[in-house]
Amino acid sequence: MEIPPEVLELWDKYGVEESVRKHCITVAKIAMRIAEKIRQRGYPVDLEAVLKGALLHDIGRAITHDPFKHFIESARILRKEGVDERIVRIAERHFSAGLSAEEAERLGLEPKDYTPLTLEEKIVSFADNLAMSDRIGRFEDFMRRLDEIDRRNPKLSWLTEKTRERARKLREEIENLSGLKF
Ligand SMILES: [Fe+2]
Repeated sequence: MEIPPEVLELWDKYGVEESVRKHCITVAKIAMRIAEKIRQRGYPVDLEAVLKGALLHDIGRAITHDPFKHFIESARILRKEGVDERIVRIAERHFSAGLSAEEAERLGLEPKDYTPLTLEEKIVSFADNLAMSDRIGRFEDFMRRLDEIDRRNPKLSWLTEKTRERARKLREEIENLSGLKF
C-alpha cells in the first residue's frame, strides 16, 4: 500500500512506533476494501479521507496507549497540524463503535459525543474493530475481545454492553451498504 507523504511526515514527526504503523496500514487496507465496495454500489464515499483517516487514526498512541485517551490525543495532534477536519473527526470518533457524551463523562473525559456519524467515520471505526494488531480478524473475534474485557474488568460491563449493541448495528449497516460479510 502506498502511504501518502503527508502521512509519513506526521508519523515521523511524532515518532509513531512500527507496530502502530503496521496496525494502521491493516486498518487502511480493510477500510479501503469496504469503501471501494460501497462506492461501486453507488454511494458517495471520500476514499482519500478514508485512507488518510485510517492511517492517522492512532497517531495519538505516540503520546499514550490508554484506550480511553489515545483517540482524543490523535484528534488534538491532527487539529494542531491543520489536517482536514473530515480526517480529524475520523480519528476522534474511531474508539470501539463510538462513545456517547454521557459515557465519555462517566469515563472522566470531556463530555463530547464520540459517535462515528459520517460514512467515512463509520468505515474506519468498523475496520479498526476487525483489525487484530496487524492482521484482519472476524467480527466475532472483536466480540470475544469484549468478553475478555468483561472478565478482566467487570466494572466496565456498562460500556461493553452498549458497545456490543453499537458494534452489531454498525456491522449491519456496513454489510448492507457494501454487500460484504464480516
Ligand atoms: Fe485506536
